[in-house]
Amino acid sequence: MKKIAVFTSGGDAPGMNACVRAVVRSGIANQLEIVGIKRGYEGMIDGDFEMLNARSVSNIIHRGGTILKSARSKRFRTVEGMEQAYQNLLKAGIEGVVAIGGDGTFRGATEFSDKYQLPFIGVPGTIDNDMFGTDFTIGYDTALNTAIDAIDKIRDTATAHDRLFFVEVMGRDAGFIALMSGLASGAEGILVPEYETDLDSLVKDLEQGHKDGKSSSIVVVAEGDDEGGAFEIAKKVKEKLSIPFDIRVSILGHIQRGGSPTCMDRVLASRLGVAAVEALIVGKNKEMVGFVKGEIKHTPFAKSVKHNHKMSENLVRIARVLAFCDA
Ligand code: F6P
Repeated sequence: MKKIAVFTSGGDAPGMNACVRAVVRSGIANQLEIVGIKRGYEGMIDGDFEMLNARSVSNIIHRGGTILKSARSKRFRTVEGMEQAYQNLLKAGIEGVVAIGGDGTFRGATEFSDKYQLPFIGVPGTIDNDMFGTDFTIGYDTALNTAIDAIDKIRDTATAHDRLFFVEVMGRDAGFIALMSGLASGAEGILVPEYETDLDSLVKDLEQGHKDGKSSSIVVVAEGDDEGGAFEIAKKVKEKLSIPFDIRVSILGHIQRGGSPTCMDRVLASRLGVAAVEALIVGKNKEMVGFVKGEIKHTPFAKSVKHNHKMSENLVRIARVLAFCDA
């Protein structure tokens, strides 16, 4: 193997740059040439390639976003788009690819490498932490810290005004950000897509908390909750409450996707980037490199896209016990 490519795809995540840097530098250390593909699968289809050297990735380990840019590609799902991408990779002499992204990225990679004989290794990069085969995805820790920083600030103003806040965090299909940021910020309610939301029981908790002397409360809502987003849930809860809470809603949105990666994310990204290059060198294909119980683990794409990262019921229980002192 002489030449490999690397790209970032799907929703960007803090630490993607650190991972690109690790792929480039460990590739060079193994006498490989490294091609950067711009804008994920879109750039693969358009032939938007650029040679990367050790200096191309200088001073990016601490930066959010991705120097390779990212995109969600509909064209790659078409036969023509995939064929065009393959021809471009072939023409550029690329013999292996490192894909940094989430579920959608690996679905595309699985289909592609089933059809064409070109090795693909995936690195889990998404703030959602919803990938099977890794305890943590790149960007998750940073997003959590951004979320709790914001929720702590909301807690200050909520306390000052005796208000009930609904704070929406990211996670269309997964509630890991909501659960962990809610637990870490002492939220009175945490609503996630993994568990059916019971608004009557939430209202009961909030009213009981009020009776027990809580003058303000925070409910963290994952954007993909089955009862809707934070605005919708706030409206439904308002109709059910018998105590007139002063309610406000705050949507954290894309600030959770940006910012300088935490130490955890930089180290994780560096380790996984190196592991991905080493996997290609020893001939692995269609696998995701992940981090499980402190060790690098390889999981076939077929498994990583089929299974869900399971949410810990114990953490859900702990969050509740600590907010209301009951189990
Ligand atoms: O997958 C990462 C993520 O940030 C989700 O949490 C969120 O639902 C989605 O991407 C938003 O995507 P976009 O930036 O394309 O609107």
